[in-house]
Parts: sequence; C-alpha cells; structure tokens
Amino acid sequence: MKSRKILLAITASIAAYKAAMLVRLLIKSGAEVKVIMTESAKEFITPLTLSTLSKNPVYSEFTTSKQGEWVNHVELGLWADLMLIAPATANTIAKMATGVCDNLVLATYLSAKCPVFIAPAMDLDMFAHRTTQKNLKTLESFGNIIIDAETGDLASGLTGKGRMAEPENIIAFIENKLSKNKPLKGKIALVTAGPTYENIDPVRFIGNYSSGKMGYAIAENLAEQGAEVFLVSGPTNLKINNSAIKIIDVKNAAEMYEQSVKYFKKSTIAVLSAAVADYTPTSISSNKIKKSNDSILVNLKKTKDILKQLGAIKKQNQILIGFALETDNEEKNALKKLKEKNADMIVLNSLKNKGAGFKYDTNQITIYTKKGAKIPFPLKSKQDVASDIVNQIIIEFNA
Ligand code: CTP
Repeated sequence: MKSRKILLAITASIAAYKAAMLVRLLIKSGAEVKVIMTESAKEFITPLTLSTLSKNPVYSEFTTSKQGEWVNHVELGLWADLMLIAPATANTIAKMATGVCDNLVLATYLSAKCPVFIAPAMDLDMFAHRTTQKNLKTLESFGNIIIDAETGDLASGLTGKGRMAEPENIIAFIENKLSKNKPLKGKIALVTAGPTYENIDPVRFIGNYSSGKMGYAIAENLAEQGAEVFLVSGPTNLKINNSAIKIIDVKNAAEMYEQSVKYFKKSTIAVLSAAVADYTPTSISSNKIKKSNDSILVNLKKTKDILKQLGAIKKQNQILIGFALETDNEEKNALKKLKEKNADMIVLNSLKNKGAGFKYDTNQITIYTKKGAKIPFPLKSKQDVASDIVNQIIIEFNA
C-alpha cells in the first residue's frame, strides 16, 4: 500500500464504526488516505474521528458548510489510485449499479478512473436478496471488485452472511489483488548502491560522495512493482523497511564484487547504481600511518569492474542496467560503457546538469538502450527517476 492514494468512501451502516480502524491500518501500511462519506454515515461515525486519523479533511457534501466552497468530486476521483467503498449499503450498491448520483460518494464513484473495491454491509436477507446479488454482479461487470461479506452476528440480532469484512481482511484482500497485477511479480532483482570505502590503514579510507539515495529508490520501486530485491549496499545512512528487499551490507569494491556476482546468478534484473571505487590501495597498512614524512605515496591498483564482469557472464533472460556519471563527452562515454560492458541499458547523469548527481535529492537522466533508443527525462526527484528507470525495465521485458 506504500505511497498509494486511497479514497475511502463510507456509507450509512453500523459497520461504519470499523472505518476508523480501516483508516489507521491503511495509514500504517504507508498509504495516503482521504475520506468521503454520505450524510447519513455521520450518524455512525464522526468526520472529526476520520479527519484526525487520516490527517485530511473529510467531505460529505457538494459544498463545504463553512467556506461555501465547491467540493470537487472529479478531482477527488482522479486523485485516488484506489477507491474503497466500505461499508457499502444495499442502497448505495443499488444506486451505483444504476448510475444514480444524489450524493458526493456516488458522484465521486462516477468520476473515479482507478480500481474500485466495494465491501458490502447489510442484514443477511438484504444481502441474499436477488436484487442485491444482481446489483453486485452488475458492479463486477463494470470492473469493480467486491470484497465478499463475512458471516457472523449481525446488528439485527440475526446471524448470517452480510457483515462487512473485518478491516484486516479488507486490507489483505486488496494487497493480494494488487500484488497479482504487479508487472515484476516473480522476478528477482539485484541492485548495487552507495559508495565503497577502500581502506588505507585502520582509520582511513578512500571513498566518494555517493549517498546511495538513487539505488535505494530503485530498490524500493522494483519491490513496489512486485520484484524480490537483493540490495548490495556500500556504507550509507539510509534505511529501508520492506520485506521484499534484503540488504547485503558491504564496505569495499572487492566485497561488493563478490556479493554482486553471488546474487546476479539468481536474478533476472540487475541495476548497478553504486559508485564503486575504480582503484584501491595495493596494500593496507596494519598500523595507523604516522605523519613522520612530509609527503607519502599511496599505491593504487584497479578494482574489478562489476558491471563489466556481470556483462560478460550475463545470460539471455537477464537484463543488466548500468549508470554513467559523466562530466564531459556524456553521450559518447555513455554509449561506450553500454557497448564495452555489455549492458542492456545505461542511465546517464551528467554532472553538468544542475540538480543532478550525488549531493541532490533530484536527478536528471537520459536512458540509452542496447536497441538504440535514447530517452531523455527532465529533472525529477530521485523517487520519480527510479520509477522512470523501472518502467523502462518493464517495457524492455515486454518488448
Ligand atoms: N561500475 C562497477 N564496478 C566498478 C566501476 C564501475 O560496477 N569497479 C559500474 C557503476 O556502478 C556504473 C557503471 O559501472 O553502473 C559506470 O560507472 P562510472 O563510474 O560512470 O564509470 P567507470 O566504468 O568507472 O569509468 P570512468 O570512471 O572511467 O568513467
């Protein structure tokens, strides 16, 4: 649910009291939540409770009573990337099935372009009635997804099927449904990120300014699209809390090489965004180097080029993506790396572009593909850049 924009619509059923828990669980799972409700739903739960939990205003009328402003249901419908109607009464379901539009919830439903999930709540006979079942079938034929009612004690004192599904079950149902549609479901991805530290002596190293933000954002986006991710990370201050991402901490180029080769063997996607040291000291002093001489020489030897090595062992079903960080002759150098390292895509970021590179939360990239495409992008947040890169990977897979 992370970063999803969820519009929760509440209608007048006793199950509306469970909406508070629903909002809490959605927020906890990382979603952004806005709530709308019918006028009569306010008899069951207050807008104040819901606005406090969702941290957003709650609307129920076409105009706000205080400011007299129009509540833009079209905008609300387009804002959402998922609409959840819970609880959905027999009355609302019937109106949705026939296109009646006499309240804000129904107008927003008609304006929404996103997937709509509906959790019915009513008494057992109302639920079993042919007209309700027919209406639910009609909504399914529109592409709406019904979260089946559960069986148990009902507000009427009767026992049977008609209870709104429990909030935990609603969320599990939605997550399950969404994960089935994820384009990278079943794929394993390797991502390298961050700098490497090459020790000179026990207290000093040669490093670089890479923050790891770009690689971490790519790992998160790949996981959001359904992939299982192995993130081989040099030293960074970043944290990730996502069960689909396993972080393998490494310190220097040699360790990063070893772990990358290991995880590349099980991966179908590899994105090498780490700023790997190109040189490492030929020997590491076991004692702290004393400042007895006016100058010292540190001898360096080349590290293994991970991208090039993976390019050499790459199989047909694997996609390999590298970066090119350039200050001049950008396109020429990027295309050279694409060819020489046998990559399928090279993501160029030029340090000449303002806002691009290690220090920033933004980046400006151009993607070059093996098939000859050149795709420039404007300056964006590293999260949005990650999404562009992952979208391009998905396109390559389907090509
Ligand atoms: N790379 C790597 N292993 C190395 C050096 C670089 O895997 N030892 C990868 C980087 O992660 C990146 C790509 O190679 O995906 C290009 O890195 P970059 O620093 O731009 O270029 P280099 O190949 O190091 O060449 P140069 O420094 O001469 O530009």
